Amino acid sequence: MNKTRIGIFGAGYIASVHADILGQDDRVELVGVADMVEANATRLATQVGNARTGTTLEELFRMDVDTVYITTPNTTHVEPVVAALGEGLNVFCEKPMATDLAGGERIREAALASTGVYNLGMNRRYAYTHDKLKSLIETGDLMPYSAQFKLNRGELLRPAWTADPSKTGGFLYETTIHQIDLLQYLFGSIATLRCAARSAISDAEFDDFSMLFTFESGVVATLSSSAHSGWSFPFERVEIYGRYATAATEELERVRYALDLDQTIHSEDYTHIPFAEKGGYVKEDRLFVDALVDGGTPPVGIDDAWALNLLLAAIYESARENKEIDFAQRVRAAIG
Ligand SMILES: NC(=O)c1ccc[n+]([C@@H]2O[C@H](COP(=O)([O-])OP(=O)(O)OC[C@H]3O[C@@H](n4cnc5c(N)ncnc54)[C@H](O)[C@@H]3O)[C@@H](O)[C@H]2O)c1
Repeated sequence: MNKTRIGIFGAGYIASVHADILGQDDRVELVGVADMVEANATRLATQVGNARTGTTLEELFRMDVDTVYITTPNTTHVEPVVAALGEGLNVFCEKPMATDLAGGERIREAALASTGVYNLGMNRRYAYTHDKLKSLIETGDLMPYSAQFKLNRGELLRPAWTADPSKTGGFLYETTIHQIDLLQYLFGSIATLRCAARSAISDAEFDDFSMLFTFESGVVATLSSSAHSGWSFPFERVEIYGRYATAATEELERVRYALDLDQTIHSEDYTHIPFAEKGGYVKEDRLFVDALVDGGTPPVGIDDAWALNLLLAAIYESARENKEIDFAQRVRAAIG
């Protein structure tokens, strides 16, 4: 079997999570690692065995890779992704796709012109808690009418660049993007949105957000997100309400659901499942490699990534201009 030859660009925290997972997939050969900090590339290459090392993307390309993982900080994704797609390589890029509309558009054009496959890393879709919600909805056991989402962050100190909007693109691109992606993944197309936001403790434009969404399906949902809550629980939660029914997640650890008034309340606890598995990283990597090997569609392909990029820009616009946005119309106009 010809193995997929993968190179990793950006050898920090999340690169090491992916490298551990990919290293256990016998369809993959981890060929090389590049990082502007040579010691980081060397450390990760040592972790995965005998990968070659470099400090630039061009060096990685010369290692005869067919696929690259882009795992550098948020505002540095567009250039390497466009360059890799231009070489006809497959790309797995960590979130976010881009931190503005122009960057997302450049990647979309590059992906449509490339023979390579583009995939955005949105692991939360495949977290055990959210997999359970998705299957309750898809089987029809839970018909969602309304929902309340929350995703906080304790601090913006580790890694240090997460406090710097010039590196993150803003808190929604850094953290809340995970649940913003889940909204359309679980409930379908958004019709309208509104966001109120403030800057409470940082120099960033905003670090507290309250959002309201309506969906074409009729679902209505709220999402609140704070960048400075500390790490006391609860900081991550999804509650979905149906007809005398509730499904609620507790962090990425548990889900509880009751599907009618006179039925048992079910509870699933994933505490003992290893972090990379219950967090959805193992599944997102497996689905991506499946698409490369089988020629299928990747889990979060270019259309989903681009629509999510459009959504994040619309939420910031709503906060800045204090207005509701007809997002369905925005999507129609962007598709042309
Ligand atoms: N899906 C998730 O749950 C998740 C979790 C953490 C991080 N991420 C994403 O992964 C990306 C990396 O985050 P991290 O926490 O691993 O950061 P990190 O700081 O731990 O690692 C980033 C690495 O990229 C290198 N780097 C920075 N700029 C570079 C450049 N221009 N060229 C080459 N190398 C460069 C740094 O030297 C560092 O080794 C970010 O986009 C982040 O949003 C996703």
